[in-house]
Amino acid sequence: MVVARDYECFAEARDGLKGRIGFVPTMGALHEGHLSLIRRAKEENDHVIVSIFVNPTQFLEGEDLDKYPRREEADRKICELAGVDLLYLPTTDQIYEEDELCIGAPKRRGYILEGARRPGHFDGMLQVVMKLLNLSRADRAYFGKKDAQQLVLIRQMVRNYFMKVQIVPCEIIRDADGLALSSRNLYLSPEERRRALSLSRSLKRAAKLIQSGQHRSEVIRAAMRGILEPEVTELEYVAIVDRDFRPLEEVELGNTIILVAAKVGETRLIDNLWV
Ligand code: PAJ
Repeated sequence: MVVARDYECFAEARDGLKGRIGFVPTMGALHEGHLSLIRRAKEENDHVIVSIFVNPTQFLEGEDLDKYPRREEADRKICELAGVDLLYLPTTDQIYEEDELCIGAPKRRGYILEGARRPGHFDGMLQVVMKLLNLSRADRAYFGKKDAQQLVLIRQMVRNYFMKVQIVPCEIIRDADGLALSSRNLYLSPEERRRALSLSRSLKRAAKLIQSGQHRSEVIRAAMRGILEPEVTELEYVAIVDRDFRPLEEVELGNTIILVAAKVGETRLIDNLWV
């Protein structure tokens, strides 16, 4: 595995890779969720590139940029064992210059739900993903459904800018008890972790209701809130939208995403279910 820290080293190693390239961009503190993307990229391509970059432009003032977990040694070993060919660990000044040209998130899809709670977050996310996709020149790039809105916006960017890369959505990986894996789970105390299970439990309840024929969003959301409210510190949203992020009054099977965002203690968590 080549580990590149600067652009020249990365570009040279990238030029040496022939055949189909799969790319997995991450912010590190790698877990089974990231690994599932890497494994799939490995299966479907000749070579795999992973990047680890805690992108400052997608963190808002007062968010956890400074304390975001950084575990470079462990991450490097995980990538090595997973058979990654090229690991890119750029510094911020390798990626950004002063007075940058920016692309912006779309006004509707980029400013509802996560975008309303974290205005500007998706601008910074798209900016770095555009850079990383261009750097990697990958045939396929792998993203988790865990970050549903992020995935939908990246697909839109690729469409709107006529980029050639294929975006591959990957299933959410959970712990045995249902908690969706996230680097931010490292912040949770045992007590908070128990309370955080209410997110996946509320989604399971939604799935049960839908299976039993209840398709009314209002009823499903009320049932979810009933599970979440006693456990979480702040419930930010429970939403039922279509795959284009328009609110739905009735669940449409095959075209619905149910999303939840909440703070447990100081930790902000998101989870969702695609039905
Ligand atoms: P990060 O949170 O490190 O996630 C990297 C990728 O792993 C994303 O595509 C995310 O959806 C996926 N992922 C995280 N947890 C997952 C889980 N439990 N199951 C399946 N996939 C999971 O998302 C980012 O980084 C950044 O915004 C990034 C795209 C790298 C741009 O900075």
